[in-house]
Amino acid sequence: MSSEDLYLRHHGLLLPRETHCAQSLRFAQEFKFRDDDVTVAVYPKSGTTWMQEILPLVLNGADLTPIQTVPNWDRVPWLEEKRLALVVDQLKSPRGMVTHLPYHLMPPSFHASKAKVIYVMRDPKDVAVSSYHFHKMAQFLETPATLDEFIGRFLQGKVMFGKWTDHVKSWRGSGLGGRILFITYEEMVQDLAAAVGRLSAFLGRDLSEEATQRIVEHCSFNAMKNNCMSNFSLVPKVYMDPDTSPFLRKGIVGDWKNHFSPEQLATFSSVIRKEMEGESLE
Ligand code: A3P
Repeated sequence: MSSEDLYLRHHGLLLPRETHCAQSLRFAQEFKFRDDDVTVAVYPKSGTTWMQEILPLVLNGADLTPIQTVPNWDRVPWLEEKRLALVVDQLKSPRGMVTHLPYHLMPPSFHASKAKVIYVMRDPKDVAVSSYHFHKMAQFLETPATLDEFIGRFLQGKVMFGKWTDHVKSWRGSGLGGRILFITYEEMVQDLAAAVGRLSAFLGRDLSEEATQRIVEHCSFNAMKNNCMSNFSLVPKVYMDPDTSPFLRKGIVGDWKNHFSPEQLATFSSVIRKEMEGESLE
């Protein structure tokens, strides 16, 4: 299928038609945020599904019911996707949502509310590698010819939700102050208990050590890989083919080292560094 068939354009960004349409984007624009809503803003392949697991447990004091009974896409739905309209009435406050939208495309009611945001960042080299494998297994995305071709497209923003650098800069420049928490995929891999501690402090939850440990255990890569509510095994193979690449693929930091050639690394780093000039990011 051609790119035209697979994606629609939304303010210059490519969005997969399989999960987005004009009505879903209108629904997102008209969505009424509540002050106690919590939104995870994240560029695709940076830890969306992981947060869909962690957030409900931090909010409810580590009651495992949501992650054992509700698929991730209905548990913490995407603001901009078609599913939201179908499940919104079943969401209990405080509602958790995720979005891949950049800050400037958030709806008016978000700006008028006090709703909090957790922004998750991941090393863009690992994002590109994860996305490359995801594009091969997801039949509703343009299949990459080679990693080299895909890296080129990624750097030009000709992938879903545009350029990684634009996304990160938009949320970092949001000026949301105490309403936004920045967290990295890498710190979650390194010390999930500490990351859960940061999240619970930000959300005003007082988690016991036992509750924190339960979250860490049930949100580990292996636990999620075996959780049919979170590993996308409920999605028919014609949409997502785990034999090509499992959704929960490796879950590590630095997999780019197994993929990038020295030339690819040099090009990638120089483009990202240039576009991130002035941002205090490592
Ligand atoms: P890899 O492809 O590098 O393995 P998203 O949910 O935003 O699409 O991101 C998917 C990436 O997050 C995948 O990365 C996936 O394995 C990783 N991921 C999901 N849950 C994880 C967990 N519990 N621990 C570590 N990585 C996780």
